[in-house]
Amino acid sequence: MDKVVLAFSGGLDTSVCIKLLEEKYNMEVITACVDVGQPQEEIERPASVAMDIGMNKHYTIDAREEFASDFIFPAIKANAVYEGYPLSTALARPLIAMKIVELAYKENADAIAHGCTGKGNDQFRFEAIIRSLSDCRIIAPIRDLNLTRSEEVDYARSCGIPLPPDNIYSIDENLWGRAVEGDILEDPMVEPPEDAFTWTRSIKDAPEQSQIIEIEFKNGVPIALNEDKKYPFDIIIKCNEIAGMHGIGRVDIVEDRILGLKSREIYETPGAFLIIDAHKALEQLTLTRNELKFAEIASNNYSELVYNGMWHEPLR
Ligand code: ARG
Repeated sequence: MDKVVLAFSGGLDTSVCIKLLEEKYNMEVITACVDVGQPQEEIERPASVAMDIGMNKHYTIDAREEFASDFIFPAIKANAVYEGYPLSTALARPLIAMKIVELAYKENADAIAHGCTGKGNDQFRFEAIIRSLSDCRIIAPIRDLNLTRSEEVDYARSCGIPLPPDNIYSIDENLWGRAVEGDILEDPMVEPPEDAFTWTRSIKDAPEQSQIIEIEFKNGVPIALNEDKKYPFDIIIKCNEIAGMHGIGRVDIVEDRILGLKSREIYETPGAFLIIDAHKALEQLTLTRNELKFAEIASNNYSELVYNGMWHEPLR
């Protein structure tokens, strides 16, 4: 039997993938969840689902510090924002793929599987990394079988896969931000209901009193908050908290996906805006007019490469 490592988030798509890989692809499945700062229950849940359905191997890979220092920090230097979106999901995908490839080598696996559909961006981001680092076969069961959500739910029920807690939206969350799409949000005329947000307060619920914070930068990245030196991960967590409380960081856009499809997405990225705005202000103080103009071009190029999954492109 061929061995496959599945990037497993515990969501509906990847949960269904486990059984599909076993039953339809006849493979031995190893699951792995890469921690890039998603909520604790999204780390625990995949492990317990894997246990419940009798997987014999599940890995939890802690990549939080690496995500902050090797992926988010370069994006801060570049002021990376794509169509108003600070690239939270886009930045995490290459790292997740790298960790999965590493595990596939360690486990001597024949294939790597992911739960992406054929419409989104993540299929490109994952596969660009996997192809550049290995010769593993890539399997995308959800894309191959073109399953709808309700077909997935039926299949999951029929083979006893525990379903994730019901949520009408599709949500992707990590240290750099939270992305929310689907259901009523697909209609751009619909104003996002307050329950779509969890990281940020609405402006009308934000404190009357403003707050001054001091961010110390070194070589283009934050190293201290209010004179308190902190690890990259902790600085970002704290900035999310502070800015979110003050109603900073909500984005509501119809974005252009890699395939050319338009899609409505809501983001909450309070820390990203706080830090990038501070970084831009610092650039305004220190760079010349010509450097600033050039930095903007570089920033746009950088952001597009990251959005498009071209992490390994030398230009990036
Ligand atoms: N549109 C964003 C991107 O491609 C986020 C995708 C995931 N969003 C979600 N709500 N599940 O980077």
